[in-house]
Amino acid sequence: MTGSPADRVRQLGGLPVWVAPMAGGPSTPGLVIAAARSGAIGFLAGGYKPAETMLAEINAVRAAGGPAFGVNVFVPGEPARDPDSVSAYVASLRDDARLLGVAPGEPSWDDDHWADKITMLMACRPAVASFTFGCPPAGVVRGLQEGGTLVAVTVTDAREAASAAAAGADVLCVQGPEAGAHRGTFTNQPGPAPDRGGPALLALIGDVAAVTDLPLVAAGGIADARGVAAALSAGAVGVQAGTAFLRCPESGAHPVHKAALADPRFTATEVTRAFSGRPARALVNKFLLEHNGAPAAYPEINNTTRPLRAAAAAAADPGQMSLYAGVGFRSASDRPAAEIIEQLAGGAR
Ligand SMILES: Cc1cc2nc3c(=O)[nH]c(=O)nc-3n(C[C@H](O)[C@H](O)[C@H](O)COP(=O)(O)O)c2cc1C
Repeated sequence: MTGSPADRVRQLGGLPVWVAPMAGGPSTPGLVIAAARSGAIGFLAGGYKPAETMLAEINAVRAAGGPAFGVNVFVPGEPARDPDSVSAYVASLRDDARLLGVAPGEPSWDDDHWADKITMLMACRPAVASFTFGCPPAGVVRGLQEGGTLVAVTVTDAREAASAAAAGADVLCVQGPEAGAHRGTFTNQPGPAPDRGGPALLALIGDVAAVTDLPLVAAGGIADARGVAAALSAGAVGVQAGTAFLRCPESGAHPVHKAALADPRFTATEVTRAFSGRPARALVNKFLLEHNGAPAAYPEINNTTRPLRAAAAAAADPGQMSLYAGVGFRSASDRPAAEIIEQLAGGAR
């Protein structure tokens, strides 16, 4: 692939549509393959799994004929600064846990197998490696680029954009506060999880474009052709959509999660730390309302709520699951990924 980073981003799939990495089940090799076959770029979600599982998924996509695709990895943060607030939060989960027949998990910190995943990405050389929750060190960025991989970094404000540009990123995924699941902020500042979390996506694209010439891929609340057209008009070279694909047949989202997205009992989303200890947008449910005071402690809180979320999923109880979704959740359809991509791509024409 040749040309400027913007040209290289445009050459990747054909359509300016990226199917977002969605860790925790929704992203499957099948979704990534369907994206590639439709001219979009799909992302495998490397988060929450060992490097070997990530490799198996890369191999599964490659076995389908070598389409261009991306792989996403979480950049590790710092252990929680306030262990007492973590202990208090764990204690506050005991009643719910007992009713679900489990004990809260150990609130342990981990780096999500960072070093192994970087080694594997360097060896596998996917077309794109994307990072969230921070920016990889410049040496990692360079190493991936030397192998022919385009490096994308998720940013949520102009400061993060400037620092990703300084580290040598090729493309920035500009994530607005409308986005489903975790905010990709570089830090996890204590304090209330912001519901809006800064300017809306279209304004944010302008803020970021003011500090860097890098190509920008817009993410957050884009669920139809109009949203795509608006993001491209605001200066993005492409869009990354997640929630729009959650209900499609190729998505591995839990059936209860898929059903909740179309269930009239769920009417809104909110940003919360309740499930993971990091701000994330989810459908408002019982657990979110009752545990909205979770401390800034990721992945400690994520590890502690895991058994509760798993038991709730097994019991088909949407009230206690993390029903991550962006503000456009009502537009998520259960049609095949190819049709959703075709519909989104209409906004680029
Ligand atoms: C269920 C779910 C899981 C997600 N997991 C990841 C992830 O593992 N890595 C990542 O970079 N972004 C993840 N995202 C965020 C997307 O990359 C993207 O920013 C977001 O989906 C865009 O907003 P939208 O959901 O409104 O389309 C996830 C989004 C959802 C809905």
